[in-house]
Amino acid sequence: MKINGETKIIGFLGSTYKTSKMYTLYNRAFDKLGLNFVYIPFVVKNLKKAVEGIRNLGIAGVGVTIPFKIEIVKYLDELDDNAKRIGAVNVVINNNGKLTGSNTDGLGGIKALKEITDLRNKKVLLLGAGGAARALAFALKDEGAKLTIINRTVEEAENLAKAVGCRFCGLDKISKEISTADILINSTSVGMNPNDNQSLVEKTLLKPNLIIMDLVTHPKETKLIKEAREKGCRIVYGERMLLWQAVLKFKLFTGIEAPVEIMEESLC
Ligand SMILES: NC(=O)c1ccc[n+]([C@@H]2O[C@H](COP(=O)([O-])OP(=O)(O)OC[C@H]3O[C@@H](n4cnc5c(N)ncnc54)[C@H](OP(=O)(O)O)[C@@H]3O)[C@@H](O)[C@H]2O)c1
Repeated sequence: MKINGETKIIGFLGSTYKTSKMYTLYNRAFDKLGLNFVYIPFVVKNLKKAVEGIRNLGIAGVGVTIPFKIEIVKYLDELDDNAKRIGAVNVVINNNGKLTGSNTDGLGGIKALKEITDLRNKKVLLLGAGGAARALAFALKDEGAKLTIINRTVEEAENLAKAVGCRFCGLDKISKEISTADILINSTSVGMNPNDNQSLVEKTLLKPNLIIMDLVTHPKETKLIKEAREKGCRIVYGERMLLWQAVLKFKLFTGIEAPVEIMEESLC
């Protein structure tokens, strides 16, 4: 990689990067295509000032991660329609000082699911009603899935279900709902390091005809995924969604189709 006066900077706004594979993933992809871009992770202390920095330093675009996906919305100039309905942003493009927010999480999740299944008329249980669940819920509805939002805080499930136009319930209804489901997606943070030994779904409820997706990427093999595999379910790792949401961002950053295989290798 040769950095010069023309190099376009892609930043990433988050609070820690200890486990992130994203800089390898993007910088290898830029190198492979001979693009004069560099990807730099920034640990954000003050989000408002960081966004001013994007404008004032001419940073071409940024990825946005936990915990800034919702808070950043108020500092941007506009959102595309998808980010607007979700109310959260995972990518910002700087067009001559005008900052536009988009969200590739939902479509990234759909692309990961579609690697192994069609979604039209499938009964999908979506656990969670936070940022990731919001992005996925709208995208699943767009695909014609029959969606039920299940969340610990039932009011949050209800709010999201009303916005999307689908069913909702509390965690106590999982055992009833799962008996007729085709796909179950964990979009909560349950099972994430350091609470690797937790799952919201009893192993006895998992049946071989179910597809189980877990958005959690640390660890890759969550308790839910491990138990689902043991019960013969088909599996979608959170890492597949991570890849596809990054692939979609790459196109927004560069205007060029991403080299998917190179990006995929970086996640291994
Ligand atoms: N693979 C990917 O590409 C990708 C992309 C985005 C996010 N993620 C992952 O998805 C997960 C959720 O992220 P997020 O941004 O949506 O987080 P978030 O906005 O903080 O939402 C967290 C969700 O988890 C639920 N939850 C948390 N602790 C719980 C517990 N002990 N029992 C039951 N429910 C619990 C919350 O329920 P309440 O409403 O009741 O609090 C809420 O629905 C994280 O692990 C994140 O790393 C992965």
